[in-house]
Amino acid sequence: MYLTKEEERMLNGEFGFAIQKAMEILVALGKIYDAERLIRVSSVQVAGVSYKTIGEAGLEFIEDMAKDGRVRVKATLNPAGIDLKDWKKFGFPEDFAEKQLRIIKAYKKMGIEITCTCTPYLIGNLPKEGEHVAWSESSAVTYANSILGARTNREGGPSALAAALTGRTPLYGLHLDEERIPDVLIEVKTVLKDASDFGALGYLIGEFARNKIAFIKGIKKASVEELKSLSASTVTYGSKPLFYIEKITPGWDKFELPKEKTEVTEEDLREAREKISDYFEEPDFICIGCPHASIEEIKKIANFLKDKEVRTELWIATSRKVKETSDKLGYTGMIENAGGKIICDTCMVVAPLENRFKALLTNSAKACYYCRSRMKVKLASLKECLEVATR
Ligand code: F3S
Repeated sequence: MYLTKEEERMLNGEFGFAIQKAMEILVALGKIYDAERLIRVSSVQVAGVSYKTIGEAGLEFIEDMAKDGRVRVKATLNPAGIDLKDWKKFGFPEDFAEKQLRIIKAYKKMGIEITCTCTPYLIGNLPKEGEHVAWSESSAVTYANSILGARTNREGGPSALAAALTGRTPLYGLHLDEERIPDVLIEVKTVLKDASDFGALGYLIGEFARNKIAFIKGIKKASVEELKSLSASTVTYGSKPLFYIEKITPGWDKFELPKEKTEVTEEDLREAREKISDYFEEPDFICIGCPHASIEEIKKIANFLKDKEVRTELWIATSRKVKETSDKLGYTGMIENAGGKIICDTCMVVAPLENRFKALLTNSAKACYYCRSRMKVKLASLKECLEVATR
């Protein structure tokens, strides 16, 4: 793989231990994927944050890198395993919190913004069409590629950190035009009513397309919240972090429609919801905010809960920045007065919730997939979730 003079110096250790390690990771990755060179990226979203997922080995690696590693581009962080401020209130164990806070301290030392969110695009990081970035959380990667038209592979924890420390990533995969051509056509023949319907559609696309790139026709309009739900579930149930939606994805009109195709009907959506869900009578946990809730969702929840009482444990996961806006606008007070809880910096999937809850009701098809090994799960609309929470 071709390296510039500066990149050679990085690899030779002239910029210190962490940059050398980072360059070794990128060169190894580039060789595996036959990349001809590295390219510069304008931002990085670093994963590998929750102590639950990276464990002791991950913590040691990050603390080692933090000894002399400093980021060269804007770098933000994926959710951690706890609410960094209110972890005691949410009942997270002290020894886990202590390890988690060490991870955060090391990332902060490297200059990474402690955003702890899977929705960097909701807090101001909106790369433009064609812009190369190195993001890692699968729903954020899919949103960046499919809704913003930016270009990113799905980075792992070490490769994202390496990109942040060097400002570069190998040129392969979804950074290349030829790897971004849609292969299968999905014709939506029904009206999608809310984010949970978009999640169910993502399940169907994932099942049909698997590792192929889908081109979706028939979606007349979609909100940011619906598009983030679709981004999360398509890549969860399939694996390709890119799809096109007619008239929505930048550059959607540059391609011929793929020949291989399927249709999605109302009946398909209903069946998808059933397959995503388990059967149970009453949930003991209701969680919104996978991917992290937007201020619009929080506003809707606050308005619904006004003058009502929450009777089942209700969490709304979001970024700290969105919560600060919610605090200022009075939504947090409205939600907390009713008995709901806003949890920041983490989510129901990456937090250590083993053995705490038995049955989850959520509007996120992705959360259903990942929580299913730990509890029963059911997909519902936001309205249904809130109705159940307050009945
Ligand atoms: Fe985000 Fe956690 Fe869902 S990281 S996409 S809220 S699983």
